[in-house]
Amino acid sequence: MMRKSFSSTLLILLISFPTVITTSRNEEPRLCHSPELYDDFPMLCQMLDRLREDGDALADEITAWAAEHQLLVGEGWDMTNAKQLETTLSSSATSKLPVVFAHGMGDSCFNSGFQNLVKHTSTLLNDVYSVCIPTGKDKSEDTTNGYLLNMDASVDVFAEGIKADTMLKDGFHAIGLSQGNNVIRGYITRYNEPSVNTFISINGVNAGTGALPNCFPSVDNENGGKKVGSVCSLLTEQASKRAYSDFYQQHNFQANYWRDPNHQDEYRKFSQLARWNNEGEPFNQSYKDNFLKTKKFVWVRATKDGMVWPSEGEHWGAADPAAPLKHILPRNETEWYITDSFGLKTAEEAGKNHYISFEGDHLQFSMEDYTDWVNKYLGDSESVTM
Ligand SMILES: *[C@@H]1O[C@H](CO)[C@@H](O)[C@H](O)[C@H]1NC(C)=O
Ligand SMILES: *[C@@H]1O[C@H](CO)[C@@H](O)[C@H](O)[C@H]1NC(C)=O
Repeated sequence: MMRKSFSSTLLILLISFPTVITTSRNEEPRLCHSPELYDDFPMLCQMLDRLREDGDALADEITAWAAEHQLLVGEGWDMTNAKQLETTLSSSATSKLPVVFAHGMGDSCFNSGFQNLVKHTSTLLNDVYSVCIPTGKDKSEDTTNGYLLNMDASVDVFAEGIKADTMLKDGFHAIGLSQGNNVIRGYITRYNEPSVNTFISINGVNAGTGALPNCFPSVDNENGGKKVGSVCSLLTEQASKRAYSDFYQQHNFQANYWRDPNHQDEYRKFSQLARWNNEGEPFNQSYKDNFLKTKKFVWVRATKDGMVWPSEGEHWGAADPAAPLKHILPRNETEWYITDSFGLKTAEEAGKNHYISFEGDHLQFSMEDYTDWVNKYLGDSESVTM
């Protein structure tokens, strides 16, 4: 299989080598404004410079990389087959509420594949209004922001997009792909007004990821994970050293959900994800109240996910702090569940949580699977009225 890595870009970003400062004709101030930053974060600084100098070329590279690694959802879909699925189901399924999408890493609302997905969903639900809300103004910015705009800032842009769309003013359903789920989950946590009725999280990184490409601990047998060798441990340590810094949290989306179980104190101190989960300080009751405004959650896991570790996190499981690389806790034994830090347990007890899985790698679900989920969880007969 070609596509094994969480993201070779993430790997490159987090584990990198020193570089020289080059001069630029661009007038905007550099985000890396001191030689120390280039020493500490060479590859991130290089990427931020490239964004400033030629963002379009960088976006094109990211898109090509994502295509090669099958991260562009809907790109390979056979729309003739879609027609058949739509004909079979659209008569039975309707939704009063519109559907909002957030795309994954490397993808963009402006890609034709993603537009297939949005269109197909609308047709399945009897032509309900469906829209992908980007976190950048055009394809180029929407693509690069998936790396270089942090999670909180991405959520703010997304929330503005929601507010600006009057079709969404009475609430909506939301479907996220991969890290797009962090955008929706962040919206639910920090805003949720207008509120998300049903959230379908497909291979979400909501519980973070704690291992690098090809460095999945062997505990994760289902994923055919590699043993933790000395090289992996070394690389992971370097990744954590960089991710748990103010500068990385400020400028890199992936660092915001980097959850290394061997560096829990740093994670709690720096990570944006830790704050949303109320794992860090300060505790924010409104995060929990907002989360519970959503009526239904559908957490979809890929059992052989090669990008998110542990993949049990897609169902809110987590590495056991007592034996991080040896044991994965089921969600009901995690600290966030037991203490109900952000509302997961309350949601569970209210019957709001649905957990489903498909056999396969990250985002490699079939069009039939997807059609099923939409029909089952977003059709009005199933969905909860507001
Ligand atoms: C808690 O979250 C709300 C909503 O995002 C925010 O307005 C408020 O400032 C937060 N409070 C603290 C103490 O961080
Ligand atoms: C968690 O759930 C599993 C499966 O439903 C159950 O067997 C186990 O006893 C639960 N653990 C706790 C601590 O409730």
